[in-house]
Amino acid sequence: MFHALITGANRGLGLEHARQLLERGWHVTAAVRDPDAASELKALPQGEGKLDVVAYDATDFESPKRLAAEIDGPIDLLFANAGMMSPETRNFGAAAGDAMALEFRVNAIAPLALVEAFADKVAASEMKVVALQSSRMGSIADNGSGGGYGYRGSKAALNAIGKSLSLDLADRGIVVLILHPGWVRTDMGGPNGQLTVQESVEGQLDLIARAYGNPAMSGRFFHVSGQDLPW
Ligand SMILES: NC(=O)c1ccc[n+]([C@@H]2O[C@H](COP(=O)([O-])OP(=O)(O)OC[C@H]3O[C@@H](n4cnc5c(N)ncnc54)[C@H](OP(=O)(O)O)[C@@H]3O)[C@@H](O)[C@H]2O)c1
Repeated sequence: MFHALITGANRGLGLEHARQLLERGWHVTAAVRDPDAASELKALPQGEGKLDVVAYDATDFESPKRLAAEIDGPIDLLFANAGMMSPETRNFGAAAGDAMALEFRVNAIAPLALVEAFADKVAASEMKVVALQSSRMGSIADNGSGGGYGYRGSKAALNAIGKSLSLDLADRGIVVLILHPGWVRTDMGGPNGQLTVQESVEGQLDLIARAYGNPAMSGRFFHVSGQDLPW
């Protein structure tokens, strides 16, 4: 049985990943900020080899180390999905500041801390896939509208980190995917998004299945449709 650890799994894309992976018979460890408040997640089948809900705060870089010490066995899919978009860092004029530092902490540095803590468990697994939930907004080549300083900057930093991880972890057989889920109807994506969470997650899980044993996909930035995105 495959085992996935996914962050930010209490709502939005992360919750749907947990749901679909459980349906496919995976063991899912769902890492969330407030397990007590994760009622939709906890309604999914819990128990031995099914769903485990654990506490994780992306702003605390010790959090992944504590989790790695607590969790038994290999992790086939490590999915750094938790992310944020701060309205305070959108527009030129007052974007630079603590809100932007927080965005970089959560969107870029926390995924690296997660991979650093779990690389041994991923390397010991059968599937050996790391997925980073990036965004097309982090593409410098694709930026035709400006603004979005904190979100764009932090996702571009995540992309750079993902590329380095793909090179540094290649000799351990780990495939690192940098993913854009599409524009999805979640709290973050809003009601006008083009995809449902079901559609986006099905597409992302197809890409992840293709990445199993496929080092040629490592360090690439993929649209959920499977197309490569420009950096
Ligand atoms: N929706 C889109 O169109 C879209 C497009 C491109 C990329 N993405 C990316 O996809 C990922 C998921 O987004 P979503 O649309 O599902 O957004 P969402 O519904 O707003 O969910 C965000 C998730 O991240 C968690 N999170 C935020 N800050 C955290 C922290 N400090 N520690 C732990 N967890 C934290 C949230 O937990 P709480 O519930 O505790 O706040 C929540 O589970 C994000 O990385 C986002 O940037 C989304």
